[in-house]
Amino acid sequence: MAVVQFSPAQPVRAPEREDLHLAFRTVRARSLALTRGLSSEDQLVQSMPEVSPTKWHLAHVTWFFETFILKAHAHGYRPFHPGFEHLFNSYYNSVGEMHARPRRGLLSRPSHDEVLDYRAFVDEKMLQLLETAPTHLAPELSRLTILGLNHEEQHQELMMTDIKHVLSCNPLLPAAFEAPAPARSIALEDGWAGYEGGFVMLGHAGDGFAFDNETPRHKVWLRPFSLRTRPVSNRDYLAFIEDGGYDAFDLWLSDGWAVVKSEGWEAPLYWTKRDGEWHEFTLAGLRPLDLDAPVAHVSYYEADAFARWAGARLPSEAELEIALRGEPITGNVLPDVEDGAAMLAPMPRAAEHAGNNLMQAYGDVWEWTASDYAAYPGFAPVAGALGEYNGKFMCNQFVLKGGSCATPHGHVRASYRNFFYPKDRWQFTGLRLAKPY
Ligand SMILES: [Fe+2]
Repeated sequence: MAVVQFSPAQPVRAPEREDLHLAFRTVRARSLALTRGLSSEDQLVQSMPEVSPTKWHLAHVTWFFETFILKAHAHGYRPFHPGFEHLFNSYYNSVGEMHARPRRGLLSRPSHDEVLDYRAFVDEKMLQLLETAPTHLAPELSRLTILGLNHEEQHQELMMTDIKHVLSCNPLLPAAFEAPAPARSIALEDGWAGYEGGFVMLGHAGDGFAFDNETPRHKVWLRPFSLRTRPVSNRDYLAFIEDGGYDAFDLWLSDGWAVVKSEGWEAPLYWTKRDGEWHEFTLAGLRPLDLDAPVAHVSYYEADAFARWAGARLPSEAELEIALRGEPITGNVLPDVEDGAAMLAPMPRAAEHAGNNLMQAYGDVWEWTASDYAAYPGFAPVAGALGEYNGKFMCNQFVLKGGSCATPHGHVRASYRNFFYPKDRWQFTGLRLAKPY
């Protein structure tokens, strides 16, 4: 989907209003299209505290529009259901009390059909508001609507990673989507790309949409560094396993070694051996492990241990951002589909995903960095409830860059900062090696 961009200082003129309507309808329809292969029972399950049921996602992104736009700006708006403010509030203390995150899977009511009715109700009210709002409200409505659409797209990726975990817990190992023919790996140059370093500017620049955590732009110093031209593959990672990587305490951070022992990790999440052969659970069901695809579903701890084993290190956020900025935005990302999803999985490298210096720079897997998710110098959350969107999570997490096979196009950019806890591995998370130049 093309990203609709507005200057916040300008009122919404008629053509821009049409673009905003189109973007709204497109993003909202896409969320439903992504669920088309799922039963209503699939959409209720919560397989672990970090996973939200699909139905909850569909309602929560709707709650976002209702809470921050309709209740604030639609004259005389009456909420669809008074209890939904509580049920579908994720973490906004400014809005009020919320239903506990680990208990979202207990919400058998409202039914799936009622959630779809809620979506349709809010869609209609939103489109009415965008059509009839007075001119002086237009810039603020644009800003909030574009934020709401970007928020919904973030949840589209979470819906895919969450349902993958849900289905992986079912002994039948069901497929969510049809699988396309496997992509063929194309031999491309494999090596290291060198970068000079020096003083560089990091963070968002330009007029396009960015989240507040990508700002302000600021200067950092980088020593010369090199990046591997491709992400670490399943073949690479299998060599680490077969070399006893999960048994070698000296490769691991102390916290990581503790998790390896307590969780009994011996391979990435979703890897399993059948008849002596490694397989991987995918959104298209269980498949033989594709050795040429980037390794996915590894934690920060595993990525860090692998890098140490390989005689390299993880890149910093700044190093990856500078490298990504020099690459064309192309890659294996969430496909644009009207009536369902293609199989979402990291793929072997292909000629069309080769860039200037790196292969698969964007898409396939989020790449762990060695950088804490922290505020940029001078960062200030926006005033009000939406200031809770990013800033309060800047503690104990690590930054990931580049987007994955489940990331919507509009979220694939060099300055984008994804973040997860170091033990997390249910996202499409992989790595790329770095070393001194
Ligand atoms: Fe959210």
